[in-house]
Amino acid sequence: MTESILAITGPTSGIGRGAVKVLATSFDRVLLLCRNLEKGNRLKEELSELNAELNIDIIKCDLSELSSVRESARTIRDQFGHIDCLINNAGMVSVSKQESIDGYELMMATNYLGPFLLTHELIPLVMKSDRKQIVVVSSGAYKFAPMKKPFFKPTRFSAIKGYGRSKLGTLYLAQELHEFYSHRGLRTTAVHPGMVSTNIGKDSVSKSLGDFVFKLLDPFFVSIEEGCKSVVSAVEQPDKYAGVYSDEGKVAPVRKHGSDFKMRRDFIDATLKELNLNAL
Ligand SMILES: NC(=O)c1ccc[n+]([C@@H]2O[C@H](COP(=O)([O-])OP(=O)(O)OC[C@H]3O[C@@H](n4cnc5c(N)ncnc54)[C@H](OP(=O)(O)O)[C@@H]3O)[C@@H](O)[C@H]2O)c1
Repeated sequence: MTESILAITGPTSGIGRGAVKVLATSFDRVLLLCRNLEKGNRLKEELSELNAELNIDIIKCDLSELSSVRESARTIRDQFGHIDCLINNAGMVSVSKQESIDGYELMMATNYLGPFLLTHELIPLVMKSDRKQIVVVSSGAYKFAPMKKPFFKPTRFSAIKGYGRSKLGTLYLAQELHEFYSHRGLRTTAVHPGMVSTNIGKDSVSKSLGDFVFKLLDPFFVSIEEGCKSVVSAVEQPDKYAGVYSDEGKVAPVRKHGSDFKMRRDFIDATLKELNLNAL
């Protein structure tokens, strides 16, 4: 029997960590794409305790750096012939203007450009698997603002709009995958996991301010165990969630600019040009 392989970005904290712990018994092998190898190794020990049979590989991947994304995809392609399920989960929030090493606004680089490139590099392996599944952890934050040019290097920084646009990008990525690959059997889902009490955004402000803000918002957040359920459901029920937006597990319509086809086309075409790619 062919080994079933799950690949996940951002498994070392929050929703990704919660999801991979639940899914540790559903796959034969997991590829943990981490920027921090120490955290990856600690997670590996925990997962081995949950399932001693699970094969676990840690792949160094910093999604904010295009060269790191290419290198990790190369490492994976050299070692594995297929990936059954790819979960694009990693993401971050920055409250101040920051640039990636490649000169892009950091949230757009980490939350969208890196995952787009990774998906492009790995999709041949996904299409070689029996399962053919991609889950994109997007966010209801896509509603915050429509896409605006210049897409990747905005002249004015706004933390809220910048985060929202990077997550709108992930929603467009999921829609694009569905449009171009579903007829060949790919099942893609974009997931909004709800408001989940994780580490997101905490390292972007001082620890005391981060803790204060999160304490204020705490009544609105759900636990990681609760918050990762929509990601796990999407993985476990690929046909139910194929080609849809899952809002905390409920299939939901995509509103406003989230379903603007022309805007998506412009943005995806600009992405392909920026990354020197001919197609997703
Ligand atoms: N929490 C929410 O309320 C919420 C709501 C809607 C959507 N989301 C989305 O859920 C996803 C997971 O976020 P979370 O809330 O679980 O946050 P989190 O606890 O901060 O976890 C984020 C994960 O992404 C990884 N990551 C961050 N920057 C990276 C980079 N440059 N390269 C590679 N990995 C990187 C982190 O690695 P380290 O462990 O090394 O930091 C961590 O494993 C994100 O896409 C986020 O936008 C979250």
